[in-house]
Formats: sequence, structure tokens, C-alpha cells
Amino acid sequence: MRERVLFGVGVTDGELELARKIVGHLPGAEQVVVCGSGSEATYHAIRLARGVTGRERIVKFQGSYNGFHDSGLRNVLSAPERGGRRDPGSAGMLEASIDATLVCRYNDLEDVESVFRAAGETIAAVILEPVGHNSPGILPEPGFLEGLRAICDREGSLLIFDEVITGFRHHLGGYQAIAGVTPDLTTLGKAIANGFPIAAVCGRAEYMDRFNTTRDGDVHFGGTFNGNAVSVEAALATISYLEDHDVHSHIYRLGERMRTGLEAIGAEAGIPVVAGGYGSLFVLCFMEGPLRSFEDVLRNDAELFGRYRRELVARGIFEMPESLGRSHISAAHTDDDVDRSLEAAREALRASLRS
Ligand SMILES: Cc1ncc(COP(=O)(O)O)c(C=O)c1O
Repeated sequence: MRERVLFGVGVTDGELELARKIVGHLPGAEQVVVCGSGSEATYHAIRLARGVTGRERIVKFQGSYNGFHDSGLRNVLSAPERGGRRDPGSAGMLEASIDATLVCRYNDLEDVESVFRAAGETIAAVILEPVGHNSPGILPEPGFLEGLRAICDREGSLLIFDEVITGFRHHLGGYQAIAGVTPDLTTLGKAIANGFPIAAVCGRAEYMDRFNTTRDGDVHFGGTFNGNAVSVEAALATISYLEDHDVHSHIYRLGERMRTGLEAIGAEAGIPVVAGGYGSLFVLCFMEGPLRSFEDVLRNDAELFGRYRRELVARGIFEMPESLGRSHISAAHTDDDVDRSLEAAREALRASLRS
């Protein structure tokens, strides 16, 4: 560690070791650059795609959050009347950026095809969470990711998997290792250093070479805290722990118990519920299935959702009481924690149905 704490003068040994680890695990990573946050990573990935293709537009999906910058902050958790329409996520965004971001329905390849039919030659990239955590808990249907891969190949656009949440949370190779679909670029953040501030852009060498971290690169990449030594060590420690311990089967098993238990509690109460999620991720929605896209989520009884979660907090179980925040099982959780949470969920649901 002593030799690795020099900031701002170039790549450290630790950063190199981290890049090699990521390349070893992540199918889509031939090269890696490290930055400070998920928004920086998606910003850089989108600009790289624009630089590579010479095109300006990107496609994202309704309900997905891909960072706070103007290129991504559109049509996130849209209010029902604004879903699918022009829905910037903030005042102060550049109009041109809002319009350069096209929005499709998740799991709807025909919608993506129609956007490409209309504007294909202007689209630099398709960016998506390969599992819709922000949506929340929506899985790609069989053929969806493969279909996006085929469309991008045909149209000369780059496919970007935003694995800022899914990266290492579901697999050391990201969700792409599970899905068997390899994107051109991948963004990582959050869980890769178990909560320490670090993120990364990875991808095919022919594209990554365009970053000005290489001699002839013409796409700017910079940041004072990029490769922060403490965060790099945290990422290396996280990877090493995940390599040596079977964390994923533990959290997948508990996640499955949680989702099954929550659906049973809904059935017991006689109300329609869907426990969305995958692996360690779970979110209980008060609605009829299926849960395929953000449009489906709009059937969620938002009022009951908020009431239930406040009742949970009153019983010592914290799930974000507002919006559609998801919850995750972590390596430290046990079967007892799941039992306790399910018991609290049963009581919280009863209480929220009474009030
Ligand atoms: C899928 C996804 N991409 C990008 C980001 C942005 O990451 P950060 O908050 O580290 O800027 C987030 C944050 O929640 C995210 O969920």
C-alpha cells in the first residue's frame, strides 16, 4: 500500500492489478479505465461511443437510471402520465441532450427496432441495465439482450451494459457472464469495491484505445481522483474475497427465500403482489404480474407500498419508504435475518391493510 498512494501522477501498480483482475473476470473487458463514480463511468462510456461512431444520439430505457448527467437523466422513475413521453429528470438540462436521448420500453425489441428504423444512422449507442434494478427488479426476457446485441451489430451502434449495480453483485463477471451476451462497453461502480468510491469503464480494446489514456486517443478521459488508492485496494480486496468465498450462492439462496416468502405473505393476505428481483435483489410490488417493464410497474399500488414500508421501518426493518427503492441481501445476512424480515413483513402488511 505504501508504494501505491501517489495521486495524480499516472497509473499505479494497484490500478494495473485491478484492471487485470477485471479483464480476467468480465467477458466484455479487454481494457479498463478507472474513475470515481457510476455517473462518471456512464458519461465517459457514452462520450466514447459518440467519438467512435461519430453519431450523437443514444437509446436508453424508460425507468432506468444511468447517471446524473444530461445524457442519461431522462425518463427515469417517470410519473404515470409522463412515462414514455419527453420526461427530463431535472431542470437545467440541455435541451439538445434531452432530445439526443431516445427512450424505449424494456423487453420490447420491436420498440427498439422502430426507433432504429426512424433514426438508426444517428444512434451511437444503446445503454441499459442488463437487469433492471432501477425499474425495479425487472429481468431481461430470453432473447432481449441477444436481440439488442444483433441490432447494434447490424446498425453500427455500440452496446453498453450499465453494470454499475449488477457488476459483481450478481457475478464476478457481471450479469453479462450469466446472460452470455457481451457488450462493447461496460460500466461498473458501487459493489465492485463493496461501497468504496470507485467506478470503471471497460470494453473492447479497439474502442477503449480511443481514450486519450493511450498516445493517439482523441476522447478525453480524466479526473483528479481516478484510481484513488484506497478505493483501488478496496476493489482488490472485494474481488479477492469473492474469488475465495462462495458469496453469490449464499446471497442468491437468501434472495430466493425472501422473494418466495414475500409472495406467500401477499397470498396469505389475499392481495395481488409480485416479488420482483434476481439473485440478492428483491422488491415487493402490490400489483398483478407480469413485471416486464417500467410500464407494468405503474400498476403498483404506490400508496400501499409507502404505507407498508413505513410499517416495516416501525418494526426495525429498513426498506426505502418512498419511490421504488429495491433491497439487497448482503454477504453478512443470515437465514435468521430473512426469517425476521419475513415476520416483520407479514405484520407490516397486515397493519398497512388495516390502516
Ligand atoms: C445503473 C446505474 N448506473 C449509474 C448510476 C450512477 O452511479 P453514481 O451514483 O455512483 O454516480 C447508478 C446509481 O444509482 C445506477 O443505478
